[in-house]
Amino acid sequence: MSFSALSEKNFIGRKHEIETLYGVALDAGKGTASSVFLSGQRGVGKTELLKQVCRLIFLGQNGVMPFFYIMSPAIVSVQDFALDYSCLFISQWIAFHKKEHSLLNGTARTPESVRILAEKSGASWAVETIEDLLRIRASGNVLELFLYASKVPFRSHVKTGVPATVIIDEFQKIRDLAGFDAENNKNLWMLFEEATESGHVPHILTGVKAALEDMLYNKTAIGHSLDLISLHGLGQADSLSLIASLIDQCQISVEKDAIRSFAEKFDGNPAYIRNFVQAVRRSGMNLSFDDLWKAYFSAVSKGKFYTYWLSQLRMYMPQLDLRKASLKLLYQLGNRSSSDMSPNLGNESFPLAGALSISMKEFESVVNTFQTSGIMAANFSTFELMDDRVLNDVLKVLYNKEVLKKPLAMIEEELAKETYQGHKYQPVRTSEKPLFEVTIPISPKAELIAVNALEKIAGVHNIPADIIGQIQIAVIDLLSNITAQKKFEGINMHWKFEPLEDTFAIELKSASEDFMSRISEDASANDFIKRYLDEINMEEAGSGTKLILKKDLKKHLASKA
Ligand SMILES: Nc1ncnc2c1ncn2[C@@H]1O[C@H](COP(=O)(O)OP(=O)(O)O)[C@@H](O)[C@H]1O
Ligand SMILES: [Mg+2]
Repeated sequence: MSFSALSEKNFIGRKHEIETLYGVALDAGKGTASSVFLSGQRGVGKTELLKQVCRLIFLGQNGVMPFFYIMSPAIVSVQDFALDYSCLFISQWIAFHKKEHSLLNGTARTPESVRILAEKSGASWAVETIEDLLRIRASGNVLELFLYASKVPFRSHVKTGVPATVIIDEFQKIRDLAGFDAENNKNLWMLFEEATESGHVPHILTGVKAALEDMLYNKTAIGHSLDLISLHGLGQADSLSLIASLIDQCQISVEKDAIRSFAEKFDGNPAYIRNFVQAVRRSGMNLSFDDLWKAYFSAVSKGKFYTYWLSQLRMYMPQLDLRKASLKLLYQLGNRSSSDMSPNLGNESFPLAGALSISMKEFESVVNTFQTSGIMAANFSTFELMDDRVLNDVLKVLYNKEVLKKPLAMIEEELAKETYQGHKYQPVRTSEKPLFEVTIPISPKAELIAVNALEKIAGVHNIPADIIGQIQIAVIDLLSNITAQKKFEGINMHWKFEPLEDTFAIELKSASEDFMSRISEDASANDFIKRYLDEINMEEAGSGTKLILKKDLKKHLASKA
């Protein structure tokens, strides 16, 4: 509850939002308050903001009581909810009247313990309330129990004259309470709306954005009677002070400018920022841009950001057979602007479904799922990927890994290039030599994959187009005689590409000696290879033969000058 809130010093920004929400409580005193839907992406700070507001209402005035309730996963039925909600309200009411924080953290949550507390405090309306609840529960009328509980704050106002501001977090969970479905109507929770209508007892509802939007605007019309407050990320200055304060707390130091470029990735989302600083903390004391990059890449390729988004994607896309197509779709959305995406979903000729090799029906189901989960944002006739750069980077990693089968080192190079671009920082790679490894199974398309890999490496390392073009021609020519042969099909080729300052070195290995001897023979007889590359060598290593090809970049540049 409010007392696990961050201290004032550690809570950054949000002055305006606090004022607005505190204003709702003040209006409750006058009877003119409206209920609010606080909307915002996960991690943007809804819960924390409401905890702060709740503390302020508790400490800042005496006329209106705050009630803070988080729908807990432990509460699974309407019956449990009704009693838990009412009991917690009563114990917070007593805490407010006695101005005793300690009661807020108390365990008085069962009807028995709350009744004792209420009796001791002389709150006879509360004792009555508990008796009513127990009686209705015994009667077995689930709906009546739910309605009664939802109006306990209102009833308390009527009986005691004290208005209340009711804050409910994770409100979307109310939909899943067992007991509603028995009535064969999943949306019975919408009877809750009545409770939100009193100007003395405004409700502030929040939780998972996409689920709540669906509940409040699509499945019911409750949203239209609520004021909407959209919570966005912290502004740039606040983001930076949050980072600074977190870094300060773990006693490390970081180059200032370096932090700035990462702050942009997080778009002011405090959850991302906290997780990032936690990850960075393990990398040392005085951190450079490169250290931050390593921590970031690790987070989006295997750490917290990766795991979180992967679990979301899996949850929303349980059908294995549609996952690859979904990934392609999301990746493509992330790499386009919404203006050139205007799919006419009813139109068979919409090219994306075809490009993803799924049926129109499957395509629609993928799009729908991602829309209701909030991963895709729907406009009226277009849609786009949720505006989240961390998600975007996770998708890039996944796509490159699972669809393009690129090695992680190459994915890192590409992503690093984008991140470093536009900043005065350039990747410094003094100690580590760049090295790209890729395993390609022999198939008629194998040379295309190799050529594609070369293209990407050239992009990352700024290798001039004509140089990489010659290397590509040499590789195509070398492979094209061999990859079409049935007897080699499926054999793995292990390629290593090493773009050094003076040379571009390529190494090819395979477990098949047959293949290696054939390709070595071809290489030494091949005119293109001789013309375009400067060194062709076979090396006997412990693990078998290696083919080594090298292009001398200095010589090439000199001949052009
Ligand atoms: N304004 C803020 N200043 C500092 N930390 C914040 C702020 N807002 C949120 N946080 C922290 O960021 C994390 C995510 O916030 P939370 O309120 O749980 O997000 P949401 O409820 O929107 O998912 C929490 O650890 C919270 O303490
Ligand atoms: Mg929350």
